[in-house]
Amino acid sequence: MARRIIIDCDPGQDDAVALFLALSSPDELDVLGITTVAGNVPLELTERNARMMCDIAGKKSTRVFAGCERPMLREPITAEYIHGNTGIDGIDVFDPETPLEEQHAVDFIVETLRAADAESVTLVPTGPLTNVATAIERDRDILNSVKEIVLMGGAMREGGNRSPSAEFNILVDPHAADIVFNCGRPVTAMGLDVTHQVLSTRERVGRIRQVGNPVAEATAGMLSFFHRYDTKKYGSEGAPLHDPCTVAYLLQPDLFETKFCNISVETGSELTAGHTAVDFWHVTDRPHNAHWAYEVDADGFYELLTERLGKFSEGVA
Ligand code: RIB
Ligand code: CA
Repeated sequence: MARRIIIDCDPGQDDAVALFLALSSPDELDVLGITTVAGNVPLELTERNARMMCDIAGKKSTRVFAGCERPMLREPITAEYIHGNTGIDGIDVFDPETPLEEQHAVDFIVETLRAADAESVTLVPTGPLTNVATAIERDRDILNSVKEIVLMGGAMREGGNRSPSAEFNILVDPHAADIVFNCGRPVTAMGLDVTHQVLSTRERVGRIRQVGNPVAEATAGMLSFFHRYDTKKYGSEGAPLHDPCTVAYLLQPDLFETKFCNISVETGSELTAGHTAVDFWHVTDRPHNAHWAYEVDADGFYELLTERLGKFSEGVA
């Protein structure tokens, strides 16, 4: 039976590829809804971008919701310098036919989880955790329906990408992240330590382009734009493909190595706000609350992604 998931995202080219990967495998992943949040770009763009991806994937009946337009407490920050002003530079923007649901994303998350069986829904956040944390704060009983949370966020060995000590998703809303990491349900975190191992090299993007369908074309176009900032910053060839690591983990968990440990989030210090203190070596007695991903088979990841993008050619997806 397909795993029931809600993807909470801030497209973002890498979120967009995560959406394609999730929509490519309906036999394995039942996307109950896509909820969007302010992050890489403001909410009115992240929701439009998510709906655009549903159009490109030929999945216009997918339910897409707009959520929180600012973090719980902190001032909003965005990342147009990486993603471009549209948030998905690298492809032509159009007005999508996939409709935006009237209902607020947080109400959808709460309502869906209230109606779901115990431990039956997986949450897949790939942006700031504002929507998810707000839903939990609204009604903690919804957590009974959460099977697990597989999120993109955090950093340990890699250091921060938006501040010296914090990864962007966690820095945007550290208070939300603190709520999610301490919610008591199984959390798996795909942080920079693992996403920086899956670089969208020219060769990998070339193989994706060769798939030759509109979804693969859009993916190659977005990655060709997305990598320019990180390659200059890190001197690497290709950008880290952050968000699809979450969906790849759901589809093929053995691509990843994870370690169960404590992950705590700095919410007080301005200098280190959003820092994820990953107690990888269990040097404290803080309770283990998350599985930290630290290793990935990068070639296997791109083989999976490329193969699944091909499913949009066969009309299977
Ligand atoms: O730090 C990388 C994360 O921040 C990714 O999810 C990217 O889309 C941005 O949201
Ligand atoms: Ca994202």
